[in-house]
Amino acid sequence: MQTDMKRILTIAAGAALLVAACGGPMSPQERLAANDKKINAIIAQMTLEEKVNMLHSKTNMSSAGVERLGIADINYADGPFGIREEGQPNGFMSAGWTLDSATYFPTGSALAATWSEELAYKYGTGMGKEARLRGKDVILGPAVNIQRLPVGGRTYEYLSEDPILSAALALEYTKGCQDEGTAVCIKHFAVNNQETNRGSVDAQLDERTLREIYLKPFERAIIEGGAMSVMPAYNKVNGDYCSENEHLLNEILRGEWGFKGMTVSDWGGTHSTMGAMLHGLNVQMTGSNYLGQPVIDSIATGALTEDMVDEKVRQILRVRYAIEPVPADVANTQMTSLPECQEIALEVARKSIVLLKNDGVLPISKDVRKIAVIGQNAVLKTQSGGMGAGVKALYEVTPLQGIQAKADELGVEVSYAPGYKNFPGRRWGPAPAEPNPLEAAAINEPADPQLLAEAVALAKEADLVIFVGGTNKSIETEGSDRKDILLPCGQETLVQALYEANQQLVSVLISGGPTDLRVLERYSPAIVQGWWNGTEGGTALAEVLYGDIAPSGKLPFTFPMQLEDSPAYAMGNFPDPNGAGGDLFTLMFRPDVLAMTPEERQAFINSLPKPVSKYTERFYVGYRWYDSKDIVPMYAFGHGLSYVHFSYDNIAAKASSKGIKVSFDLKNDGGMCADEVVQLYVSRLDSAVEWPAKELKAFKRVSVADGQTSKVTLEVPLKDLRYWDEAAGAWALEHGSLMIQVGSASDDIRLAAAVEI
Ligand code: BGC
Repeated sequence: MQTDMKRILTIAAGAALLVAACGGPMSPQERLAANDKKINAIIAQMTLEEKVNMLHSKTNMSSAGVERLGIADINYADGPFGIREEGQPNGFMSAGWTLDSATYFPTGSALAATWSEELAYKYGTGMGKEARLRGKDVILGPAVNIQRLPVGGRTYEYLSEDPILSAALALEYTKGCQDEGTAVCIKHFAVNNQETNRGSVDAQLDERTLREIYLKPFERAIIEGGAMSVMPAYNKVNGDYCSENEHLLNEILRGEWGFKGMTVSDWGGTHSTMGAMLHGLNVQMTGSNYLGQPVIDSIATGALTEDMVDEKVRQILRVRYAIEPVPADVANTQMTSLPECQEIALEVARKSIVLLKNDGVLPISKDVRKIAVIGQNAVLKTQSGGMGAGVKALYEVTPLQGIQAKADELGVEVSYAPGYKNFPGRRWGPAPAEPNPLEAAAINEPADPQLLAEAVALAKEADLVIFVGGTNKSIETEGSDRKDILLPCGQETLVQALYEANQQLVSVLISGGPTDLRVLERYSPAIVQGWWNGTEGGTALAEVLYGDIAPSGKLPFTFPMQLEDSPAYAMGNFPDPNGAGGDLFTLMFRPDVLAMTPEERQAFINSLPKPVSKYTERFYVGYRWYDSKDIVPMYAFGHGLSYVHFSYDNIAAKASSKGIKVSFDLKNDGGMCADEVVQLYVSRLDSAVEWPAKELKAFKRVSVADGQTSKVTLEVPLKDLRYWDEAAGAWALEHGSLMIQVGSASDDIRLAAAVEI
C-alpha cells in the first residue's frame, strides 16, 4: 500500500503536465482530482468504520488516516501568521516542547498594508516551510474575511476591507504555502465579520453583496490558487450554519467554483449529522458526536448511504495524497523558526508600516541626541494572545529594543517610561496574589497620575518623544469585539500632556485594527501605524523612524473619524439592536454545559436566543461607504505617506475585449529610493446599475530610485468589472463609460481618464 501511495504522489507531482478531458490545461482544482481512480481503488478496500473515522477529529489538531492501508493522519496547525506551538493532543494547552518556537510573521492587517502580492507569496512559503518542519500537512489559514466592523475582534487576523486587495493577497499566500507542500485551509468561509455571538449569529445579506464583497477572497484562492481545504465559519449565513450551508458549500464552492478538496469545520462549529453530511462538510473538528457513530447509525436506518461517505473520503484523500506526509522521524528534529523566514517577516514588516501623518518630525534628525520612549506598547510582545492566532516566537524585537539598537549605533541616549497602564483583559489562569501596578482594572481607566508625571518628566528632558500606544491582544481578540475604538487606559490624556511638555513628538500605534485618532491627531506632529508586526517588528519600526528606508505601507482599511460613521453602525446594524444573544462557542465551554448529555446540549442550544446581523449597508463596505456618502474619514483607505514625493503624469487608458490597460509615469521627486503603492479605482458614468462611488480594481507596489521615473502599467480584466445581477442570478457586464482614477490613496487621486467598455 505504501508503494501505491508513493505512486500516487509521483503522479500528483507531475499533475501540472496533465490536461483536462476537454483538451485545455487542467485547473488547480481539477489537478487535485487527477488521481481519483487510484483513490477509488483504495476506498474500495476500506471498511465503513475506517471511512467514518476520517470524518472527525482524532486529536485536537489531527484527523485520522488508516494505518492498515498506509494512509497517514492529517495534521493541522494554526495559522495564519506563525505555526502555533504544539498543544496537548486533547486541547490547546502547551505540550511543553522546546523545538516548536516558530517565526512570528506580521499579522494579517500588517501583511495587507504592504499591498504586495510578492510578499504575500513569500509569506505563504514561509508558513508552508515551517509547517513541514513540524510535520503539519494543513495550516489553518490564511484568514481572509472582509473587515466589516472597525471593532471586529479578528480585524488584525484578516486582511482588508476591500475584496480585490484581500483576494490578491489570499491568492498569493495560498500559492506560496501550497508550493512548499503544505495545504492551506482558507478561513472562515464565509461572512465571518464579527465575534459577538459568532457561534450563533445569522449574517443576513443579499446575494450581490455576498458575491462582490464577502466571497471574493475565497473565490480567487480556490479557483486560481487551488486552495485544497476550506474552513466553514462558526456563524450562519442567511439561515444556515456555514458548516451545513447548501448554498455556500455545495452550490457555490463545489458547484460553481469546482472545489475538489475538503472542508474542515471551525473548532466546535459542526452542528448536526444530517446537515453536515448532506450540505458539504467533510471533517468535524473537533469531536465525533456528529460525524462519528451517528453516521454509521444513519446508514443503518437508510437515512444516509455509504456512497455519501465514500464521496467525503474521496475529497479528503485528494488532499492527503497531494500533500506528502512528513515522516515521524524527520518532523520536529530542528527549531521551527528558520532564518530565511525571519528575513521574510522583516521584509513584510518594513513594507507594512504606514506613515499616517508627518509635519516634519520624521525621519529622526541627526541632531536628536536624547529620545524618550513612552508607553507600555513599546515593550509589549504581541506574538501570543488573541486565542487561535498566537505564536510562540523564537524571538521578538519590541519597538523599544528596535529603537534602542539603532540609537546605540548612533550614540543616542534613550530613556523609557511606561506612561499608561496596560489592560490585560480576560485572564485564563488564576488572578495574581498582588495586583500589578502596571495593569489597569478596566479598559477605560483614566490616566494614572504617577505614570503620567514620570513620563512628562522624561519628555521634558528629551530632544524627541516617541509615544508608543495602541491596543493589545486582550483588547483586540478572537472571541469578542471591541465596544469602541478609543485608545485605552488614558492614552489620550497622556499624549496631550506629553505634547505640552515637548512638541517634538511622534506617536506610534501598535494595534491590529483602526483606532479613534481625533485626540491623538491634535497632539501628534507625526503618527505611524506600526501594527503587530512580527518577530522583527521593532527592527523595521526603527529603520522607518530613522529614515533608513522610506515608509511605504498603505492602510488596508479606513480609519473612521468616529466609530458611528462606519457603515454597519450608521445603518443601525451593529451592535445588534435586539441585544446580544449567547455566544455558543463560549457557552459550550461552561462547566455545566460540558457536563450535559448530547441531547441536553442540543436542547440547550435550541433554547438560546437567535441573534441576527443584518447587512443592509450592502456592498457599501469601508471606503465604498465613506466615498459614496461623502463622509470624511480620519485616514482613508489606501492612505500612507512617504519621505519622498511621487509625481504622477501622462496617463493613457485603453479598453479592449480583454479589459482595461492603463499606463502612466511615476516619478520619485527625490531624496531617497522609495516604494509607492499605486492604486487604480473605477467609477461609473451614466450607469443604470447601482455602484459605489468608486472601487479599487488594480494596484501595484513600485520601487523607484531616487529622482527616477518609472512607466507603470496596470490592467483590469473585464471579469473584474462585472456585477452580480440578482435577477439573472449571474455575473453581468454593464457596458458604458468608466472613469479610471489613479492615485496614491482612495482620497488622493492624481490622474483620471475616461474609457468605454
Ligand atoms: C478559530 C479558528 C482556529 C481554530 C483552531 C477557532 O476558535 O476560529 O480560526 O483555526 O479555533 O485553533
